[in-house]
Amino acid sequence: IKNGPCINRKYVQTIVDFIRERISILPTVGIVCGSGFGKIASRMKNAQVLKYEDIPNFPRSTVVGHPGNLVFGEFGGKMVVVMQGRFHMYEGYERQQIAIPIRVMKLLGVEILLLTNAAGGLNRSLKVGDLVCIKDHISFPGMSLNNVLAGPNDEDFGERFIAISDAYDSTLRSIFKKVVAEMNFSDVVKEGVYAHVGGPNYESPAECRMLLMIGADVVGMSTAPEVLVARHAGIRVFALSLVTNVSVLDQESKEKASHEEVLRATEARVDDVEKLFEEMISRL
Ligand code: ADE
Repeated sequence: IKNGPCINRKYVQTIVDFIRERISILPTVGIVCGSGFGKIASRMKNAQVLKYEDIPNFPRSTVVGHPGNLVFGEFGGKMVVVMQGRFHMYEGYERQQIAIPIRVMKLLGVEILLLTNAAGGLNRSLKVGDLVCIKDHISFPGMSLNNVLAGPNDEDFGERFIAISDAYDSTLRSIFKKVVAEMNFSDVVKEGVYAHVGGPNYESPAECRMLLMIGADVVGMSTAPEVLVARHAGIRVFALSLVTNVSVLDQESKEKASHEEVLRATEARVDDVEKLFEEMISRL
């Protein structure tokens, strides 16, 4: 196992100091935007923006649909920081670098993290446009020492060994479900297990059949590492997948997943997610 950069308290504090000198907002809620979800920030009030590239020691976004901004502002009556664009290991980052933004949020004062992602729908009841509230995950990189928490542990953030049986906060899921019912979105919202794969290729049909067999409902290339870093640091977590394509289980099928399809499906649902999150945040 390679150690990579140690994203310790000192490293993160230099980023936090830089942000604090420029941004007056003290966020208690963080949002991580998946592919095409950057628009979630559009209804924020008094927004202040920092580009990732202007923040020393901060990674850069390389994926189309991930703009690369930290947006601070008021949303649902709370002070919020939105990550427009996340980092994935397939972009070539050392796995520890995925921890940087989440640890920055922790030191800025974030207590609750909402994450979104685009995902393939494995469960045959899922359709493109469905939202899946994540209740648990299976992380292939996480189980195979490509774990974001592997390497030297900085006790300033959390303990070496952490339980993740309650990683996806049941109270936050209940609040979300209530909001969904009241806003009449129940027919497009489900709950399920997220399979985290390394990517960057979409899964083969045989891989999809395996994922379905082991209990996954949706599959994607993100979220689980950020959830681990957040839980390690004691941040409460809520995560939502948007089904942007239905996973192909049969190699004779003519259906093919594509990033354009993912961005199109996200575009069609992002306003709904923004409204649901705004209402959810107002109830936290
Ligand atoms: N992101 C969007 N769709 C995906 C899929 N089918 N697999 C992995 N990541 C995805």
